[in-house]
Amino acid sequence: MLRLAVFASGRGSNLEAIYNSIESGSLRNIELALVVSNNSNSGALEFAKRKNINGIHLSVLKCNNDLHEFERRLLEALNNTRIDLIALAGYMKKLPGAVLEKYRGRIVNVHPALLPEFGGSGMYGLNVHRAVLEAGRNISGASVHLVEGEYDSGKIILQESCPVEPGDTPEILAERITKIEHRILPQAIGIIAESILHTK
Ligand code: GRF
Repeated sequence: MLRLAVFASGRGSNLEAIYNSIESGSLRNIELALVVSNNSNSGALEFAKRKNINGIHLSVLKCNNDLHEFERRLLEALNNTRIDLIALAGYMKKLPGAVLEKYRGRIVNVHPALLPEFGGSGMYGLNVHRAVLEAGRNISGASVHLVEGEYDSGKIILQESCPVEPGDTPEILAERITKIEHRILPQAIGIIAESILHTK
């Protein structure tokens, strides 16, 4: 069994998809051991509470803007809950260097576009879909990748595409792509888990 931490800033639908995949047995060998959010009002923390999953609110702001203190407390939480791997599921903040270092190759992020295009700084939420529509693309999709230093960089684990339909708004496109995220994020966690278990 590997212990997973999910980091989420928003409503937490990807967290819910991970939870459901574990419950249904399609995502095996994973225990959802911790939810971390920088947002005390996030749907993700609410969901964790409802399902009796250990959830913590932790952010740089909460640590009086002290990055070192944030890093220390985050590492402490991950150590105390014996976390093996991390999924960023709509997490809007950068992870501190020591966490990236400790979990190298064991952190995945879901992004609502076909990376390497439409990624990087400022490319989050509806901005991504707006950029895809403005570029006149007729295909978009979602990607899950390993997290390294920079935003949306790192090896791509899974991608799935979908059409961009005439008349799509950023919101409509987001809805179509969210459904893909809910499929490929748990699948990618399974892939990373397999590789960790095989190298243990
Ligand atoms: C997802 O579209 C994810 O790709 C993006 O933020 C959204 C999070 O949605 N980075 P939710 O909080 O999982 O519902």
